[in-house]
Parts: sequence; C-alpha cells; structure tokens
Amino acid sequence: MSASASSTAGDEKQEAAPVTHCKGVNDLDKVVLREVRGSSAEVYLYGGHVTSWKDEHGDELLFVSNKAIFKSPKAIRGGIPICFPQFSNFGNLEQHGFARNRIWAIDTDPPAFPVPTSNTAYVDLILKPAEEDLKIWPHSFEYRLRVALSPGGDLMLTSRIRNTNADGKAFSFTFAYHTYFKVSDISEVRVEGLETLDYLDNLQDRARFTEQGDAIVFESELDRIYLGTPSKIAIIDHEKKRTFVVRKGGLPDAVVWNPWDKKAKAMSDFGDDEYKRMVCVEAAAIEKPVTLKPGEEWTGKLELSAVPSSYYSGQLDPDRVIQDSIVPEDSIS
Ligand code: BG6
Repeated sequence: MSASASSTAGDEKQEAAPVTHCKGVNDLDKVVLREVRGSSAEVYLYGGHVTSWKDEHGDELLFVSNKAIFKSPKAIRGGIPICFPQFSNFGNLEQHGFARNRIWAIDTDPPAFPVPTSNTAYVDLILKPAEEDLKIWPHSFEYRLRVALSPGGDLMLTSRIRNTNADGKAFSFTFAYHTYFKVSDISEVRVEGLETLDYLDNLQDRARFTEQGDAIVFESELDRIYLGTPSKIAIIDHEKKRTFVVRKGGLPDAVVWNPWDKKAKAMSDFGDDEYKRMVCVEAAAIEKPVTLKPGEEWTGKLELSAVPSSYYSGQLDPDRVIQDSIVPEDSIS
C-alpha cells in the first residue's frame, strides 16, 4: 500500500485498516480513512476530492448531491472540491480552476510533515501540471494535499503548494476549500464568526458591503466572499443540534454560498430541493492572491470538527490559531 498511515500502536483488536484503497463511483479510485472510534472519510483521486466525512455513529457530515456526476470534466457536486489555481472566474481559467477535475496521484514519498498524533489516519496526494495544464497556466508546481482524520474524528486538510518553475518566474493563484456541509434545514442554520466583516457580494457584481447581522441566516440565494476573516467560523444547525467548527490557516477569506431554489433548478447536477440540506462555507484566499517565487511553498490548512451545539459557546480554545505562511526555499526541510 502506498498511502502513508499510522494506526493505534500495538492495538491487536483493531478491525479495519486505517487506510484502504478501493474503487468508488464509475470505478474511480478512492481512499478510505478510518479512525478507531468509528469515524471515517473518503477521498477520490479524481479532484483530490473528499466526498465523505462521517462521525463515530456513521452519520454523514458532508453534503454530496444525489445527482453528482463522477466523470471528467465535471467536478463532483458536494464534499470538498479544491479550487486551484483560480477561485470562481477571478482569471482566465475555467470556473474554480482545474485541480478539481484532474486525477491526482498518491504521494509515495512526501517530504517531512509532522503528524499531530500517532493515531491519525492520513493519505498524501500530489498534483503536478500535465502538458495541457501548462498550456493554459504556464507554471510548474507541486501541490501536495494531506487528508487526515484525527482520533476524535476531526477532518484535517493541508495543502502545500510549491513553485517549481525553472524559468525563475513567480506565479500567483487564488484558492478555496469549497466545503459543502450537510445540514438538516437551511432555514435553521446560522453561520457565526463573520459578523461586522466586509464582504463582496457575488450577486451584486462583487460590490463591497459590511455585514450588519449578528450571524448569517439564509432566506434566499446567498453568495458572498467575506474578507479578512478570523481563523474560526461556526456553522450552527439548530434542528440537528450540531455545530461545525471550521478552523483555517493561510486562508484569510471565507465564501458563504447557498444557491436557493432558482439556481438549484438551473444546475444539472443538483436536485431541485437539495439546497435545503447544504451550505457551503469555503476557507479561501481570494482578495489578495498568493504569490510564490520559485522554490517557495505556501501552506493552507483546514480543520473541521462536528460537536453537539450544547458544547459550543466559543469555548473551543478560541485562541488556537493555525499557523500559516509562505516558507522560503532555504527553510523547507
Ligand atoms: C461558489 C461561488 O464558490 O461556487 C458561486 O461563490 C458558485 O458563485 C458556486 O455558483 C458553485 O460553483 P460551481 O462551478 O461548482 O457550480
């Protein structure tokens, strides 16, 4: 097996392997991560795309459309598409860039990369540009993605993007983890942590506004890029009494999106009523594109937890900040 993984040291009773490779929809390769207490995650090599994250009871936490098309060039509708090297239409590339519809490889020899605890199941993927990609985006890069499941069932994605241009040229990109959270009823959902911030409204030619509400609630289509956001955002599902906590590093912006009924009907890979059961909160770097010189590496981190809402009142170590940075070539081990 080529995926990196560690399991419960010395635990003979462990039943399922923490990392397995198998086939998913349309015979596409996928990797399943399992944690000893029962939580799991699935990652498709198509798109480097997380399509499932389940808690210890087997409850699915991510939304994937019943009409999702698991076939190139369509990105899988739901889960966590990777938007790179372009978010939306901020540039000349296809919408949300090409990483989400390329076949990634298992990274058999990832460079040194600390694992938070020895019980974490993880897989390392890598994407390098193919010749066709270089024609539309003439930059050489190595994009390493680690998807990890902690013993407590938290899902952690770490992206490390490195400029490997041999021509001495820097490149810039925009980025998002386009996470689709599964919710019981969108009208019962609040997003907290973005109040008083400025946002660009995608429904009004990206005009800039300041958030006035004490939380974001959903009553119609919403498509906004919040700017300069804190490292922690909460998505509170009142009906389910569950809170998703999003922690992020290296990703100053946050997109909040729900297509509502009209746009839902216009999407061929999305059910007419499915907008009621999802919300996208996307950790992103959009307003200020990331620029990397040759040899430099950028890290963007996402950590997702799902907790009973009664546990959440901001006490989840609010000061914990995920470090983010661009690391110059000479300090990368
Ligand atoms: C969001 C954008 O990130 O993605 C929306 O803010 C867009 O404008 C949505 O509609 C879905 O994009 P796509 O390309 O996956 O249909």
